[in-house]
Amino acid sequence: MTDAEETVMVKQNTPKKIGILTSGGDAPGMNAAIRAVTRSALNRGIAVAGIYRGYSGLIDGSIRDFQMRDVSNIVNHGGTILYSDRCAEFATEPGMQKAIATCRAPGIDGIVAIGGDGTFRGACDLTNHGIPCIGLPGTIDNDITCTDYTIGFDTAVNTTVEMVDRLRDTCESHARCNVVEVMGRNAGHIALHAGIATGAATILIPEIPFDEDEIIRKMIEGRKDGKRQFIVMVSEGIAGYAEKLAKIIPEKTGIETRYACLGHVVRGGSPTLRDRLLGAEMGAAAVDCLLEGKSNLVICERDDRIVPMDINLALILDRLYKDKSLPGELEALPQKELDEIYTLLTRKRSKMYKLYNTALEISK
Ligand code: F6P
Repeated sequence: MTDAEETVMVKQNTPKKIGILTSGGDAPGMNAAIRAVTRSALNRGIAVAGIYRGYSGLIDGSIRDFQMRDVSNIVNHGGTILYSDRCAEFATEPGMQKAIATCRAPGIDGIVAIGGDGTFRGACDLTNHGIPCIGLPGTIDNDITCTDYTIGFDTAVNTTVEMVDRLRDTCESHARCNVVEVMGRNAGHIALHAGIATGAATILIPEIPFDEDEIIRKMIEGRKDGKRQFIVMVSEGIAGYAEKLAKIIPEKTGIETRYACLGHVVRGGSPTLRDRLLGAEMGAAAVDCLLEGKSNLVICERDDRIVPMDINLALILDRLYKDKSLPGELEALPQKELDEIYTLLTRKRSKMYKLYNTALEISK
């Protein structure tokens, strides 16, 4: 194909109306992304439609055309003005057919989907059914392997830090331990980052094995050394362990212990500067990609650069990181792509191990 022919092809594939949706767990900064997608598309003469409640809105037709003012005064708010949902029907072929019909009626011919890995699987299916999609990583868990940061993570960590600082004050006054369970699904990023930032005595995450006797030994030693407060940060990914540990600690160390589960409180609230910027940059980049005729990409941030990656490859990388690779999927990849995902895998894992080792070195 000549360059001229390729340009014509790309122009033909350029969307006239971009739909935007948020799916899965909401995350602070999603509104900044919605605003960026809406405004950068409208500024280039492309119509925008807000799709409500994630993929559910595509099934039941909850869609509304957006103008500039529809995204005013939202950049500072947590949650998502488009609401969110986890939609089982969308994963079925009849559900997909309904979604495509919903897109075709108002002329939606491109979609930006903000969410986690489930959202990307949906975006990939839609692309395969003829609706070009771009995914933006939006989840507090930071568990999307292809990107350094997801929209919402920074706010969730900062909120966790604020909450744990408060617990620490009262622990110091009463010479207590507080075992704190934080969200993250099966990933320990929130616990690890917030644990370091709050000076936790111990951080337990599902990615790295730990020794309970060692936790106890360290606490006994710390108390002998005059340490009054102990924060033990536990990721929810170690299912049910935080509450159990809060009972074991006083029995084995004699240190009075309380348990706190921060839960959904860290998923709400006004987004930090970082999440607003990330949402804005990723949103604008998604529109750029669609207008360049590209699709089936997830927008990532690596080393402060915004880079797109093929969604299929990003999902394969994610499964590899989570030890959930599908039979044969790695073998089927061309060498270049295999090398790419192993480089990204090593990068993500070593970042986490490095941080964990730092935590071990500086905790007492
Ligand atoms: O993925 C975001 C997240 O908040 C996880 O940290 C948590 O495990 C899950 O969603 C909670 O889901 P729900 O909002 O359905 O309770």
